[in-house]
Amino acid sequence: MLQKPRGTRDFLPDEMEARRSVEWRMRDVGRRWGYREVCTPEFEDLELFTMRSGAGIIEEMYVFEDKGGRKLALRPEITAAVIRMYINEAKVAPKPLRWCYFADCFRYERPQKGRYRQFWQFGVELIGADSAMADAEVIMVAADILNATGVRYELKVGHLSLMRNMIADLDPAVQRKVRAHLDKRDYEGLRETLAGMGKPDLAKSLVALVECRTLKEAFAITGDIPERERIEKTLAVLDAYGVKYTLNFGIARGLDYYTGIVFEGFADNLGAENQILGGGTYRLAHLFGGDDVASCGFAIGFDRVMVSLGDAQPQKDIVVGIVCTEEGKARALAVARAFREAGIRAEMDLMDRGLGAQLAHASKSADFAVVIGKREADSGEVTLKNLKTGEQKTLDLAAAIAGVGAHGSR
Ligand code: HAM
Repeated sequence: MLQKPRGTRDFLPDEMEARRSVEWRMRDVGRRWGYREVCTPEFEDLELFTMRSGAGIIEEMYVFEDKGGRKLALRPEITAAVIRMYINEAKVAPKPLRWCYFADCFRYERPQKGRYRQFWQFGVELIGADSAMADAEVIMVAADILNATGVRYELKVGHLSLMRNMIADLDPAVQRKVRAHLDKRDYEGLRETLAGMGKPDLAKSLVALVECRTLKEAFAITGDIPERERIEKTLAVLDAYGVKYTLNFGIARGLDYYTGIVFEGFADNLGAENQILGGGTYRLAHLFGGDDVASCGFAIGFDRVMVSLGDAQPQKDIVVGIVCTEEGKARALAVARAFREAGIRAEMDLMDRGLGAQLAHASKSADFAVVIGKREADSGEVTLKNLKTGEQKTLDLAAAIAGVGAHGSR
């Protein structure tokens, strides 16, 4: 028996309904903030991602050559593609641009719960606004979206400039190593690396920076830096809006394009793969042949949000089974259409079953049966049976539709 590729999933209707319901909650919040949906290709020129997305992601990419010998990659993330599209299609559009997407990404990672080779992201990119208010807006949108899903999470906010400032004198290869140690909270490795370079005190200060939770403490460690005012203003907006976050200047982010504010969200109830959100300010456009435009965005790991939410089922549609005899069929078609036009899910027999067998099937698959035999076909009425309570009445079509409609969803 053929199986799906490793790291991918099939979704049955119940799961798709649950996913769509969460997806629409996310979209709705994005829409209310003014973020309009964009869509980019599933695959791009490999170069788009090799330019700045970071070594980690490049190793994890699905790369292939097409019949024309072009090197292509399935998108491992959407940000680079959105910025490419901005340069190709919307460079001259009035700024800022508020865009969002819900799209699948592909990463060749070792699959486990919450880590897949095909997964979905809901993300936003705010292009062309370079201010504390812009940085804060993106974080507020992220918080509003996660809150709308009902997921329980912790939001961590940091800024790369503090750490970068402290390690600016180190050689770039060592800087990278230091960032990797800090990202993994590998303080032992950090101490070793820096002691080897005669800078044991720097290791101490960096650990203190990563562990501190207030701006005051952070600036006491780093001294004043030019970005201080912008950081303070951004956090003041978050505080005024009531965003709940903790400061964390150890956030390094895996992707190489971030420039300033960075933030990550972690679900309370997930294991190793508990990061459900990542984002920050970045600059990519100039690398792709565009203007050096400031951008800020985030992506939510949709599948991880779904794992975190668990089996909470969305409300289900009420289902009406249209049950009819051969003489009642033409009338039944019209009745089914009337229910559907009223927004109610109505299903007819496709198996040439008799009336009794149709009713038996409806009792397994529907909430109501609408029975149309010869009598109903002649009278123009229908018999409506509530399959949960057994209650049954003969009434006109409009009253039957109203009766079912009054039940809303299951
Ligand atoms: P990222 O942190 O690489 O950032 O991915 C965002 C989120 O996607 C992660 O926090 C995680 O929840 C989810 N994710 C990543 N890999 C997997 C996987 N293999 N399976 C399931 N979920 C996964 C970005 O992609 C940036 N483009 C975010 C961004 C947008 N920055 C600025 N704008």
